[in-house]
Amino acid sequence: MDEINGIAEKLAKDMKEISVAEFFEKNRHFLGYENPTRSLLTAVKEAIDNSLEFTCQANILPTIKVKVKEIEEGKYRVSVEDNGPGVIPEKVPHAFGRVLYGSAFHKLRQSRSLFGIGIKGACLYAQLTTGKPIKVVTSTGKKIHTFEIMIDVTKNEPIVISHKEEENPSHWHGLKVEYEVAGRYVKGEASIQEYIKRTAMVNPFAEIIFDGPDGKETFKRATEKMPVQPIEIKPHPYGVQLGVLRRMLTSTKARNLIGFLTKEFSRVGRNSALKICKLAKISPSKRPQEVDKDESERLYKAMQMVKLASPPTNCLSPVGEEDLILGLKKELKADHYVAVTRPPSVYSGFPFQVEVALAYGGELPPENAILIRFANRIPLLYHQGDCVITKAVKEVDWRRYGFSQSANSLPLGPLAILVHFVSVWVPFTSEGKQAIANYPEIFKEIKLALQDAGRELAKYIRKIKKMKEKELRRSIFERYLPVVAEAVGELTDKKAEEILNKLKNMIRGEKIEGSSEKA
Ligand SMILES: Nc1ncnc2c1ncn2[C@@H]1O[C@H](COP(=O)(O)OP(=O)(O)O)[C@@H](O)[C@H]1O
Ligand SMILES: [Mg+2]
Repeated sequence: MDEINGIAEKLAKDMKEISVAEFFEKNRHFLGYENPTRSLLTAVKEAIDNSLEFTCQANILPTIKVKVKEIEEGKYRVSVEDNGPGVIPEKVPHAFGRVLYGSAFHKLRQSRSLFGIGIKGACLYAQLTTGKPIKVVTSTGKKIHTFEIMIDVTKNEPIVISHKEEENPSHWHGLKVEYEVAGRYVKGEASIQEYIKRTAMVNPFAEIIFDGPDGKETFKRATEKMPVQPIEIKPHPYGVQLGVLRRMLTSTKARNLIGFLTKEFSRVGRNSALKICKLAKISPSKRPQEVDKDESERLYKAMQMVKLASPPTNCLSPVGEEDLILGLKKELKADHYVAVTRPPSVYSGFPFQVEVALAYGGELPPENAILIRFANRIPLLYHQGDCVITKAVKEVDWRRYGFSQSANSLPLGPLAILVHFVSVWVPFTSEGKQAIANYPEIFKEIKLALQDAGRELAKYIRKIKKMKEKELRRSIFERYLPVVAEAVGELTDKKAEEILNKLKNMIRGEKIEGSSEKA
């Protein structure tokens, strides 16, 4: 017995809190820093995502300059500059030097940002691999502030290495981050170039200038129309979990349960609130802070039982069919494009919406279809196999729409399949934010959207096929025309040449339908 106690005491001595920064430094693969190729991409991606998110929030047409240059073998200097609202100097150290510090996590809002980790991941990775601080230059239109920041990993606190202030006669506003990281620059499907290209597809209002190791490339904007800013919503009772409900009960400002239910949740009116209280057998006038453990459990169950309207869906901001086609057209040269934006739907109390766009023919590789996945306007380049989007694409019967397909695979043919999922809460399978979890409601909507788009595309493919068949028949007929003309000439005593010309005119005069694009 004594011996066991001894071990417990020894263990107790070793017990201490682990800083979240240290945790992520050790487990950087969770954040997308698992190998040099992906790490370089993640470091660039996090800054671009932020630039797009915050320029959009400020309703500014984004111009983003991305620079990636090799400084020595396996080391790169990355900088990303935007023309957004900037960050006030008091907030810079924490926003860039403290893990799990951000503005998005507690809001139920369609957003590219989420955990308040993104840019700190890049900062941690930079100091881990090159030992250098990250540099942040920012202005809200007043003075220009330049910071060099590192993270005190054991305390999860920012260390400001330097801070200087400059005049800003041109009233520049925006933010530029710069860091040096270990990495490998690649081309192809999971490259920075591809990431930017795909970003440009679903953000056609953004201009992105990419100055990479291979030279400069500009992704021009195709529209000046900014997306509608998504609004924040309150949680829907069907989407809340018991633990969260208990916390909400203690922190609410509402004085009674009925006020709590109607003010803190969406789609709960007075009548529904009364019904919930009755079902839970709690007085509607009870103070939320006094609701005990058993009562909160009953309340939670009652909230799931009462019939309520679905959460509001005006909080979603999909790209829209017109802009999806604009975006696809500018980045992929194909013969035909179709797009479908499904009406909003709900999973576990969270509103979401699915859109699909297809590009067909043209310069697309003729063999395998390309799948292009997005969540809240961010391209998902990794973990394709784990994503509900991939599962849905494979389960659609593409043979119906004129493609060949083997069981449980993507279709074959010159086809690009773009799927965009938007929601106030994207159920990512992990912190790397690269694959969406398989909820039945989500799977069903994606499949329906794919089928809608597939049917639309099939119409075009059938038309093209018919035209080709007609063309073939005509060419066969034309080959025999001289023989026919000769014979008719002999029978009618007319010149064969005249008859041949007449026949040719008849065939060519036929109206040929051109291929059209749905735009
Ligand atoms: N380019 C930028 N413009 C304005 N604010 C920014 C920018 N980049 C980062 N921020 C601020 O820093 C915070 C932390 O960013 P980040 O670590 O990427 O977390 P998240 O994006 O999940 O909120 C953001 O929530 C935002 O307030
Ligand atoms: Mg971010």
